[in-house]
Amino acid sequence: MKTKEELFLEAKKISENSYSPYSNFPVGACCLFENGKTYLGVNVENVSYGLTLCAERNALSTAAANGEKKGLIAIAIYSPKQKMCIPCGACLQWMAEFRAENKDVSIILENEEGEIVEHTLKDFLPFTFKILSLIHI
Ligand code: THU
Repeated sequence: MKTKEELFLEAKKISENSYSPYSNFPVGACCLFENGKTYLGVNVENVSYGLTLCAERNALSTAAANGEKKGLIAIAIYSPKQKMCIPCGACLQWMAEFRAENKDVSIILENEEGEIVEHTLKDFLPFTFKILSLIHI
């Protein structure tokens, strides 16, 4: 299982592939599943700005394309432009979709002092949208 430092380094490395010509705010993400596999993503912008895809959702899409379902346990996020690159609300909801039942997701960031720190999805999104009749969610 990769450490939080290793996941953060992977997010840092992949952020170089960000396609962010409009904001000039590159982001990289590396997510880790219970089976030990990791998947990478970058933000991908579009001239129609609202179509932009965040790095976190890109990483989770890649995970899904590789057969992952529930089982997300950690995600590291990096931007060279800003320490503490906190995931947006849409990405938090996506993380909730993939988290393992009754488990939290560790969100790995760099704090203002440059240390690698862990928060939890529960910290950032204590309540999640759900459809109660869909008991599998
Ligand atoms: N962005 C992410 O990749 N992840 C987030 O959680 C928030 C924002 C990207 C979207 C856009 O390309 C750039 O950061 C500036 O908003």
